[in-house]
Amino acid sequence: MRFFTTALAGASALVSLVAAQSLTLQFRGLEGLYTVGVPTTISYVAPDLEDPVTITLRRGESGNLDTIATLTSSATGGSYRWTPDEDLPVGADYALQITQGDEINYSGQFTIAGGPNPSTSTLSSGMTTSTETETASITQTRVRV
Ligand SMILES: *[C@@H]1O[C@H](CO)[C@@H](O)[C@H](O)[C@H]1NC(C)=O
Repeated sequence: MRFFTTALAGASALVSLVAAQSLTLQFRGLEGLYTVGVPTTISYVAPDLEDPVTITLRRGESGNLDTIATLTSSATGGSYRWTPDEDLPVGADYALQITQGDEINYSGQFTIAGGPNPSTSTLSSGMTTSTETETASITQTRVRV
């Protein structure tokens, strides 16, 4: 009987640990690279999955992100289907923000590929600027992952 009680206490401690983890508002399993025009599923966990979340696309330095677009303000159930807009410029400094009530969290930074690349289209010679080389190698690294 004593053993049974101990085992039961252990099991309920484990259950509450799992429950506590799933209460944190956060993205799950995001990829490092998205391509414009290609639909993708953004997954997340939230304290209450039936309570709508707002997902915002942002871009820039991690401490100083610009807001690009609100993707949805009514996602529920832990996932949202997103097709990156064809107009989004190529970049390796995008991030997603998720908001539910007073809670807010961010994804890591990721790349959006396949969109317009203004610096390439304005090039008149065949030379590549160092900024472009950098962006290209970041993209390649993430593709390989
Ligand atoms: C934000 O998400 C990370 C995982 O991406 C998680 O470790 C952290 O606890 C979350 N922060 C908040 C305030 O929910």
